[in-house]
Amino acid sequence: MAKRNIVITGGAGFIGSHVVRLFVNKYPEYNIINLDKLTYAGNLANLKDIEDKPNYKFVKMDICDFDAFHKLMQQEQIDGIIHLAAESHVDRSIKDPFTFARTNVMGTLSLLQAAKLYWESLPEGYEGKRFYHISTDEVYGALTMNHPEGIEPPFKTVASSEGHKAYGDDFFYETTKYNPHSPYSASKASSDHFVRAYHDTYGMPTIVTNCSNNYGPYQFPEKLIPLFINNIRNRKPLPVYGKGENVRDWLYVEDHARAIDLIFHEGEVAETYNIGGFNEWKNIDLIKVMIKTVDRILGNPEGASLDLITYVTDRLGHDARYAIDSTKLQKELGWEPSLQFEEGIEKTVRWYLDNQEWMDNITSGEYEKYYEDMYKYNG
Ligand code: NAD
Ligand code: TYD
Repeated sequence: MAKRNIVITGGAGFIGSHVVRLFVNKYPEYNIINLDKLTYAGNLANLKDIEDKPNYKFVKMDICDFDAFHKLMQQEQIDGIIHLAAESHVDRSIKDPFTFARTNVMGTLSLLQAAKLYWESLPEGYEGKRFYHISTDEVYGALTMNHPEGIEPPFKTVASSEGHKAYGDDFFYETTKYNPHSPYSASKASSDHFVRAYHDTYGMPTIVTNCSNNYGPYQFPEKLIPLFINNIRNRKPLPVYGKGENVRDWLYVEDHARAIDLIFHEGEVAETYNIGGFNEWKNIDLIKVMIKTVDRILGNPEGASLDLITYVTDRLGHDARYAIDSTKLQKELGWEPSLQFEEGIEKTVRWYLDNQEWMDNITSGEYEKYYEDMYKYNG
């Protein structure tokens, strides 16, 4: 395998840390640079196990800093960029959309322009180069729940849970028209368009992938799964937005990281791939699985924590259903998820319970106060 100099942005975050770990361990001949601003969501503790590896380097940088990034590209002779850095939480985007436009839109544009300037200055130009942008299925908007009781799904994968159901008969395809609703998804959609524009206008070798909801270790505990595991453990209320009927399609984070590795190396330039495991869950059903799993592992009587469920005011513009069709990635590149959902949840719950120190270091911070006035408990 040829030597490569790769920047992974957002490597101190949830998904980024799994991607950095995979690349550092799998490709000792590569130089892997983890570029991260270390916002509230960036945590170098996520990478303690690989921080001393000779092929790994951390650079603290804001992706909006065009000059600094252009200089880094030149100094490190970067030929591959895997771009994950972003503001990623929908609730925060509802409160503070400007930060999302700045980082997700302007930051991505800044990376693209710096890469263009550097790569176009080289004798070989764009040959052997790659700008890979990680995006979300939320850019496609929301699917209808025209089968609220669930139907036999047209697809199944290893990730599909026991008794797997689909809650509508439409899915997100690579050809689905963009229709983002939240400030978060609007900013990601905009960045996706800029990435494609750099291919179509300047010939930059870009790839975009759109993935469904990820879960697993090292996820910041503002997101549903880690937040609820931690609250169950600490006997704190579980704030379920609306009726808990919204559907999300869950994929284990290491399966996403493996897809990113495969697509970075073997994906077609200018293509888009959807990534997901055909694993739809109503929030309330998923929450009950988490309660059951945590209670069993902690030795509580079955159902002991069900009383923590607290229905709260719904999220503004709350998308009803996400469900992604990843057939293209499975057929063209041979990717498939490795973990069945119940196994993934068991592994995830155990990880958070076993890594209480990691969690406490975060929750002792300020972030919880941020939401105090946002969602008022009804119950
Ligand atoms: P995260 O919030 O856990 O991590 C984001 C990282 O980006 C953090 O380390 C943060 O410090 C860094 N960052 C933020 N602003 C920055 C800036 N201006 N400059 C440099 N670094 C900055 O996010 P995540 O859940 O790991 O998501 C990573 C990427 O994957 C995002 O682009 C997100 O849109 C996308 N994605 C996430 C999911 C999901 O379920 N979490 C699903 C599909 C796609
Ligand atoms: P989240 O983890 O924020 O991911 P996303 O909004 O990107 O899908 O939320 C997952 C689902 O859980 C979503 O439908 C909102 C819901 N939710 C709650 O009901 N309560 C909560 O406290 C959180 C954080 C999310």
